[in-house]
Amino acid sequence: MHTIVRVSGDGIGPEITNAVSRILEAARVEINWVDARAGEAVFDETGNPLPDETIEAIKKHRIVLKGPLTTPVGAGFRSINVALRQKFDLYSNIRPAKSVPNVDSNFRGVDMVMFRENTQGLYIGKEHWVDDEEKHAESIAVVTEGASEKIITAAFEYAKKRGRKKVTLVHKANILKLTTGLFLNVGKRVAQNYPDIEFQDLIVDNMAMQMVLDPGQFDVIVTTNLFGDILSDLASGLVGGLGVTGAANIGDDAAMFEAVHGSAPDIAGQNKANPIALLFSALMMLEYLDQHHAAERIRSAVYAVLQDYKPVCTPDIGGEGTTSSFTDAVCRILTN
Ligand code: NAI
Ligand code: MG
Repeated sequence: MHTIVRVSGDGIGPEITNAVSRILEAARVEINWVDARAGEAVFDETGNPLPDETIEAIKKHRIVLKGPLTTPVGAGFRSINVALRQKFDLYSNIRPAKSVPNVDSNFRGVDMVMFRENTQGLYIGKEHWVDDEEKHAESIAVVTEGASEKIITAAFEYAKKRGRKKVTLVHKANILKLTTGLFLNVGKRVAQNYPDIEFQDLIVDNMAMQMVLDPGQFDVIVTTNLFGDILSDLASGLVGGLGVTGAANIGDDAAMFEAVHGSAPDIAGQNKANPIALLFSALMMLEYLDQHHAAERIRSAVYAVLQDYKPVCTPDIGGEGTTSSFTDAVCRILTN
């Protein structure tokens, strides 16, 4: 029995976390959940968006399933997602984007996995005003050889283990010569240890265009924090949107599984949120726990429900159903 910290989060978080928990239970996956809080709702109540109990629970149990957390735009507290990734050194943010059968999208046969460096780059939050009038702001990006080597090695190791053929490193070393130049140079060096895997590097703007023109050419992708954030949403869009793409944040001794999407305040509380993204994140968690059989069973049940998605699936993928109707349909298959 695994003990896992469950943070249901803000906005649509509680609805999709509940859906995913029901599906794991229907599949008879044995989990001892430890519920913990983070984000806007607990901030409004207590003034602290990341309570000490939550940090202690993660320190103790090391594995987290997390719904989305709202981050105020502009002013207000810093992103708790980013804080958790940095605090537990969850340096690999892994975001697969794979075409899902029957889900409407402009592309077929997309199967890429993005490795985003999760602790550095422009996301360290070191911003300041240069002048007193607050008309001139500066932001600092950090890239170290050590962290670059870890994420790039993680991408190559993943490719090697899964029999994938190619790793594409994305950078902007023509302009950001020191920071992303360092990342590129580390990539070229690490690639030499993997002679059987093709290595390619692309400048990020070209990459964005290539992903839309011909996404089938990409396999494993590795990049810095900001580029990975943007390109992984783009990758989600290639396979049916944010509602169907899961993600994992993995470090050497802790892991946090969450969807790529946010708290979707526009549809919160309306039973419209698609739980597939968080469910696919939970399947990455089961694989991390070596529960491959359970993960496969649940994935097959989801694919079976997608065969006739109109009546049961959520509107974001063209369905006429709800969070609950989708969840019921998957649970029915699993308990039959
Ligand atoms: P968002 O991802 O919450 O929503 C973007 C659009 O996608 C919305 O139209 C939303 O309705 C739709 N959408 C997202 N997830 C969906 C799902 N499961 N099913 C159906 N439709 C879905 O992005 P937005 O609006 O930019 O951010 C809202 C809040 O979420 C912000 O406070 C942001 O900081 C936070 N956020 C949190 C993340 C996390 O916890 N890891 C990641 C991204 C954003
Ligand atoms: Mg994002």
